[in-house]
Amino acid sequence: MSSPRILVVDDEADLRELLEITLLKMGLDVDSAATLGEARALLALHAYALVLTDMRLPDGLGLELVREVTAAYKCTPIAVVTAYGSAENAVVALKAGAFDYVTKPVVLEDLRIMVRSALRLSEPAQEPAAQQASQGSRLIGESPAMQSLRAQIARLARSNAPISITGESGSGKELAAREIHAQSTRAAKPFVAVNCGAIPETLMEAEFFGYRKGAFTGAAEEREGFFQAANGGTLMLDEVADLPLPMQVKLLRAIQERRVRKIGATSEEAVDVRIISATHQDLARCVETGTFRQDLFYRLNVIELRLPPLRERIGDLPLLCKAILARLSAPGLKVSLGPGVLEALGEYAFPGNVRELENVLERALAFSDDGVIEVGDLSLKAARPAAAPQPGQGTVAPAPPPSPAPDDAPLPSNLPDYLTQVERDIIVRALTQTQFNRAQTAALLGISVRQLRYQIQKLGIQAPEG
Ligand SMILES: Nc1ncnc2c1ncn2[C@@H]1O[C@H](COP(=O)(O)OP(=O)(O)OP(=O)(O)O)[C@@H](O)[C@H]1O
Ligand SMILES: [Mg+2]
Repeated sequence: MSSPRILVVDDEADLRELLEITLLKMGLDVDSAATLGEARALLALHAYALVLTDMRLPDGLGLELVREVTAAYKCTPIAVVTAYGSAENAVVALKAGAFDYVTKPVVLEDLRIMVRSALRLSEPAQEPAAQQASQGSRLIGESPAMQSLRAQIARLARSNAPISITGESGSGKELAAREIHAQSTRAAKPFVAVNCGAIPETLMEAEFFGYRKGAFTGAAEEREGFFQAANGGTLMLDEVADLPLPMQVKLLRAIQERRVRKIGATSEEAVDVRIISATHQDLARCVETGTFRQDLFYRLNVIELRLPPLRERIGDLPLLCKAILARLSAPGLKVSLGPGVLEALGEYAFPGNVRELENVLERALAFSDDGVIEVGDLSLKAARPAAAPQPGQGTVAPAPPPSPAPDDAPLPSNLPDYLTQVERDIIVRALTQTQFNRAQTAALLGISVRQLRYQIQKLGIQAPEG
């Protein structure tokens, strides 16, 4: 059997040679090209297990090659070599479909890790595993929304790009992350899910990066952090919006450098983890209000995967109910739905999505006779209208709509002036409440900081002296 063949595209002879030698030493066959044109000609002749391209070439951008290879040679992963510190290039390439990237000056260890990871994609042994994973997919549903989600997951599983999963609470974000991991070449390595909102701030660094024995009082022995535990696999940062700002800085560094340092250690260690983050909050909004760092957001949010709320795929209800009931059934007790139950569920908005459906069915089962759930057993929060929650509000109940002025209140003689005054009063009240913290005020009023700034200027609101 011949060795996997790699195509290296770089116009700098020195770097090309370094890459070639490293790859040859790994037992791989290497072809090289100095221009896009040469690369295209070689691609037409041979099947490559990996293409590694520089970003700037004499006859065009490496990005063009990323787009072409992703479109025309679907089985060939392509990675880019970017200048150190040009996060933009790396992110743009990943968005365009690049499998991964290495930074210049190239650290050979990083290069080897990346190449090994890419080669696993073309290993024949991988096929059955991937098939098994998709057959045993735990994401239930055949609605168009679910089918498209599954197709996206299959595609994303073939890359190392960071993914940010958004979706209302209970919509299946963690399940989707596990699915991506299970279908990826990392499946045999750990999947570590971390709830960022649940770790006390003082313990965070130790939990993420680990510590050496004696690094602080109580560090009786050396311990690994989440990054080391997930090495070779996937690290899911759940509720990432809850990370305190100082930790965001440290995390950004670890993700950029692909290296972590245990507390009390003198040197860093390389870690190879794929990052999947999730939140039910609107992360872009958190950036605007100043609670989330823009640079970390940019790094995490390379590819966005949106989980549709259950009410957008209500056609999946029968399959979901069936699977959930099968799980709830005790041995010897068959559980089923009585007449009208599916219809009643179908009219409900499910603000808590699939998790709420699970809870509703479990509770109903407790009230039911002989395992047959009747409409009367469902205690749906009937009063709640089937309206979508506001984006970014998660499970928090939306504020009540403003009550209209009583019918007999005097009408304003100048509506625009009146409304301006109302607006002014509200903004001044909110500013006072937050002690003139603009980010908090904007968040409180559900507008962007930019909008707030504009209004303050327009309405001539003065901040207090000092
Ligand atoms: N498509 C689906 N098929 C089967 N089960 C699902 C599906 N989506 C979600 N579930 C189930 O619903 C529950 C909630 O899913 P999960 O924990 O992945 O949601 P989440 O979006 O991470 O929620 P949260 O925002 O609360 O963290 C789990 O028990 C999961 O197994
Ligand atoms: Mg979750």
